[in-house]
Amino acid sequence: MSEAKGASLRQRPGKKQKAKKDGGIEITRVEKKGAENKQEDIQRPVRPSKKPPSSSSSSTARIYETLAVVCLLLALLVGVAVYLLHYEPQIVKQLDEGFVKAAATIAQLFQPKNGPNATSKPVAKKAKVVSKIFSADELRLHNGSDPAKPILLSVLGKVFDVTDGKRFYAKGGSYSFFAGRDASRSFATGEFEEENLTDDVTDLEPEQVAAIKEWQTQFERQYKYLGKVVGRFYDAAGKATPALKKVKEKLQKAKIVVDQELEEKQQFPECNSRWTEKDGATVWCTESSGGIERSWKGYPRQFKSARAQNPSPDAFECQR
Ligand code: HEM
Repeated sequence: MSEAKGASLRQRPGKKQKAKKDGGIEITRVEKKGAENKQEDIQRPVRPSKKPPSSSSSSTARIYETLAVVCLLLALLVGVAVYLLHYEPQIVKQLDEGFVKAAATIAQLFQPKNGPNATSKPVAKKAKVVSKIFSADELRLHNGSDPAKPILLSVLGKVFDVTDGKRFYAKGGSYSFFAGRDASRSFATGEFEEENLTDDVTDLEPEQVAAIKEWQTQFERQYKYLGKVVGRFYDAAGKATPALKKVKEKLQKAKIVVDQELEEKQQFPECNSRWTEKDGATVWCTESSGGIERSWKGYPRQFKSARAQNPSPDAFECQR
């Protein structure tokens, strides 16, 4: 009795217990009412499910979803590219150079070392700097007053990115007046007032022009060369103007003077000199005085060079 009650509590008689599928046949276990509580397996064919494995409408929706995401990403990329091109051309240029370098490196990796396609030409390691033509107005935008923009300056028409030297060229820096312009003249004269900050070097001596050229060479070594500024030294096509040709002529002259001075120094090396309270000034020659190694010593003679940049009236040189 208690057994029967317990059974009725756990499982109502006649209720389906469990259904399991067996090769398209559903086997339903039915507990029959009755004293014996006999169980019987009834086999019924299972109806195939009406739901298809994947409906065509949902897969179309998924395709549309994917397309929408791709379109969104493309629109985002185009937006970023347009912004960079308009407002951050420097970044675009750097990215561009980065890609060129990366492409060159990858190309080098896949360059066949042997075999029919192998070439003897080495792959260029350094990407060529794309030279740009700047307008004076464009250059002025990079005068260091906007911390978000690279700082540029020009020497004899060549433009450099001097952002790395922002301690000198940013607003408040000791040489900030050089930023955003070509003030070649002041590199030679040391005159930094606004009216003297100009690229007009017409009246300067060959040695002064050579000094400006030296600054240009230092900027080439120290900073990144970007291109040319349209104006006194280059035209809109980046070609040298007559003013730059005059500069080059002066550089030639300055070189001749420097070479002659060097030759003179070899021929008449400087003496050693000393000054004491007791003996006053003493000059003497050795086989290395004046920094010139030679097989002769020579004798100190007063010498006035006509060519020397700053001839000293009481200079002594060693003569044989
Ligand atoms: C024709 C005159 C001069 C010009 C055109 C000139 C120009 C410059 C420029 C462009 C820089 C920055 C260099 C860079 O980007 O790394 C610089 C730095 C400097 N200049 Fe002058 N300068 C002149 C005269 C002087 C004089 C007379 C003094 C000293 C009394 C001086 C002291 C310095 C110092 C200490 C630095 C910093 C160097 C460093 O930290 O690397 N300069 N100068």
